Amino acid sequence: MCILQVKHLYKKIGKKEILKDVSFTLDKGDIMAFIGPNGAGKTTTIKCILGLQKIRSGEILINGYDIRKDFVLAISKVGAIVENPDFYMYLSGFDNLKLQARMYRNVDDSDISRVVELVGLEGRIHDSVSKYSLGMRQRLGIAATLLSTPNLLVLDEPTNGLDPDGIKDLRVLLKRLAKSGVAILISSHNLSELESFCNRVCILSDGKILEEASIKEVKEMDENKYLLKVDDSSKCKKYLKEFDKVVDKNHIEVVRDEEEIAIFIKELVLNDVLLYEVSKYEMSLEEAFMKSRGIES
Ligand SMILES: Nc1ncnc2c1ncn2[C@@H]1O[C@H](COP(=O)(O)OP(=O)(O)OP(=O)(O)O)[C@@H](O)[C@H]1O
Ligand SMILES: [Mg+2]
Repeated sequence: MCILQVKHLYKKIGKKEILKDVSFTLDKGDIMAFIGPNGAGKTTTIKCILGLQKIRSGEILINGYDIRKDFVLAISKVGAIVENPDFYMYLSGFDNLKLQARMYRNVDDSDISRVVELVGLEGRIHDSVSKYSLGMRQRLGIAATLLSTPNLLVLDEPTNGLDPDGIKDLRVLLKRLAKSGVAILISSHNLSELESFCNRVCILSDGKILEEASIKEVKEMDENKYLLKVDDSSKCKKYLKEFDKVVDKNHIEVVRDEEEIAIFIKELVLNDVLLYEVSKYEMSLEEAFMKSRGIES
């Protein structure tokens, strides 16, 4: 089921065109990595989705509701963090959540305990927020977004300031939420991090979508590339073709289709090359990002 539909967004601020035809969709359970260079328009797109900025033209539907016509219904099942979450520093985490909970109908103390446990803050929830680390504040921010039991979570750079443990916890939490049917849009510059738990990617550059694909499709973009681990790369040089290359002393990279790779392996082995490993090359999100911008590594 389509939870978020973004259709042909255009936005101008002053004379500058910030968004130029941004379209993508998010289904139930999707975790989409929303990536692009600084100034590409990610935060602007996110603000438009949340109704924090007006669009010039285009359409945004959340759970089928148009945010311009049925804003309250559209936004009712959305949780979001844009930039840094704001809290009353002198209040405890719990009291901050209690204040936020008053914005929603049917959210009580048991819901607060549930989200606190989900983000793993139960040990510190009654301390004042001023005593929290950056990572703990991020977790509290996520807890706050979960109060309304959203089915769409929009997170703008939520891994900023998190340590590796914090990032791992967030990853586990987001995966669990996605499994329960929540759709998640997450922007970040930490591409290797995103690649490990997102199932889709949307690359934005200069206000335009360069690529919208599944992570699987991205990884298989160069499906004919193979990495071979050998005893001595120099022994293989004479069998390499135009697009092949020696990576280091023990690795070569070759471009072959399935039949050719079998023949190539046979050729190496018959010529006394010791072959330890053959693996199909998978493109990383970072490489796909560079490639989509015309920058080859
Ligand atoms: N209020 C504003 N007034 C004028 N220009 C703005 C305003 N807000 C954003 N912009 C411009 O819009 C463009 C997109 O900005 P945006 O913050 O959406 O980028 P981003 O993809 O989130 O970048 P980053 O990765 O740095 O967070 C930038 O060129 C920025 O300068
Ligand atoms: Mg931004």
